This record gives sequence, structure tokens and C-alpha cells, in this order.
Amino acid sequence: MADADALSGFVVVEPAPAKINLALAVTGRREDGYHLLDSLVTFTAFGDRIGLAPAAEDRFTLSGRFCGALSAEADNLVTRARDRLRAALAPTGQAAPPVHIHLEKNLPIASGIGGGSADAAATLRGLISLWKAELPADGLDALALGLGADVPMCLASRPLRARGVGEAITPVALPALPIVLANPLVGISTPAVFQALASRRNPPLALAGAAGWAEALARLRNDLEPPARRLCPEIAAISESLAATGAGLVRMSGSGATCFALYDTDAAAETAAAALSRRHPHWFFTATSTLEAQGKGADDGAY
Ligand code: C5P
Repeated sequence: MADADALSGFVVVEPAPAKINLALAVTGRREDGYHLLDSLVTFTAFGDRIGLAPAAEDRFTLSGRFCGALSAEADNLVTRARDRLRAALAPTGQAAPPVHIHLEKNLPIASGIGGGSADAAATLRGLISLWKAELPADGLDALALGLGADVPMCLASRPLRARGVGEAITPVALPALPIVLANPLVGISTPAVFQALASRRNPPLALAGAAGWAEALARLRNDLEPPARRLCPEIAAISESLAATGAGLVRMSGSGATCFALYDTDAAAETAAAALSRRHPHWFFTATSTLEAQGKGADDGAY
């Protein structure tokens, strides 16, 4: 759980919500090897957090359950986001003074829920607020995309449909969904999963015509799940455990290995996560809720 003390005293505290690919179609491949996707994405109340404060010189510190897997010295997406934003602001003459950035790492590493990308996006949002910086929206989107294909959607951190390599974003309306995230604590390589795909040209997501979001989601899929299951047998095991709790839908997010299960109520999600944690103490489970967005999506309908 979040450590309340780790971020006290920071001037800006920015949430870095976990990204959930509710469905993901791999529809093609670009010449540079990146895959074209069509994904229905939402975010959860559970995630990492970034703290920012002015400092005499740049500092980067870490805390949280999964911070051990990251080195404070290593090149990482948080410090890269800081450096790229500073470089982008330099020609405009805007100040980008030294900053202490603290990352509270609550999300498992390399787990298909956008951890590093969410951290980079939260760093950009937080620094823009701390430095009172102004960048044109297209400049910020390009900067985000340069950090990783999932960073633009994490910058938005709201329900959306992402196409292209993930950068072509349209908002969608989705309710708050009680959800359990489950990870076997086995990291999985995203490029390896893409490489193991049997087909790179699959149909896009068919979102129209369903009676509601639950029916639409049930008909959809994650094209990365079959190759990820071949590379990581724990995904089948953890999915079976989730299904046995009476969840409405069980699926893998991104390139795995995190799987998610949707429930009708927060209480049902919490009961399931508690029972699963007791039964499988070496796996990671957490009950949370997706972030809702109301109103009609730009062109993709509301559920
Ligand atoms: O952009 P990012 O660094 O997050 O992507 C990690 C890797 O995942 C890429 O190097 C690529 O192998 C694969 N990838 C892909 N198509 C995408 C996103 C990622 O092939 N749309």
C-alpha cells in the first residue's frame, strides 16, 4: 500500500494510475517493426505516485513495495522524462530549475499495466505544474511518444481508445468498474511477446452494436494473450484463480503478465483479492476501481 510519509513535504504529488488494456487488437506492423494496435484502455485508482519539490540539485529517490527492482542511479523513464522536458523548454526561455523527484513504486515491474510509462507521464504532468511550464499540446504529445508508445495514453489517464502504435487517442465513456489486478511477479518482455505473435494482422475491435460495456467487453480479446501464455505459464494459472472467484470478466492487460478481473461491486472485488492473497501468497493481488469518465466519446460511443 501507499506509504503516506514518503511523499509528505513534496510540493506536487502526482498519481501515476495503472493502465489496463480492457481489450487489445494487433492490426498490423509498421516498417520500423512497431505494431499497429487498436486498444480499449482504462486506468485505476491504484498506481505509483510521483512527488516533486524544488532542490539545490537534481535528485531522484525511490520507495514502495517494488522499488527494489529499479536502481536510483540507472537510466529510467522518470529521469529521461525530466531531461527531455527540460530540453524542450530550453529554446522557449522557460525556467526548469533543479528538482527532487521521488517515485513511490507500488506497481509490479514489466507487468503490462504501464508502470514505467505511467511514471514518465506523471513526471511530465507534475513538472509542468511545478515549473508552471507551457508547451503546445502537440509538442507535449510528441515528447511523450518519444519516451514510449504508452506514454501519450498515460498522459491522458482516462478511459480511451488508442490506435496507431498507441498514440492516436480518442476518449471513450466508461463507468467506474470494480477490478482486481493479479500478477505472478514474473516479469515478461514486451518485445518477446510481440515477436511470438502467430498473426500480426487481426481485425480491429468491434465496439458497436453491444447492449452495454459489459457485453462489448465480453466479445473483445487481447491478441497478445495467446503468445504471452506460451511464454509465461503462470498467466493461465492466475487467470484460472481469478475465474474461480466468480468474476464477470478475466483477461490479461497489455503484454502481460498482469491479468485483471471485473466484479459487480467493490465489496466483491475486495473479498476476491483477500481470498486470492491468502491462497497464493507469492502472487500479487490488489482490489481497486477503474477511473470513470462520463459523456459521449469522440467517435467511439459511450457504454
Ligand atoms: O515504446 P516502448 O518502449 O514502450 O515499447 C517497447 C517494445 O515493445 C518496443 O521496442 C517494441 O518491440 C514493442 N512494441 C511494439 N508495438 C507497439 C508498442 C511496443 O512492437 N505498438
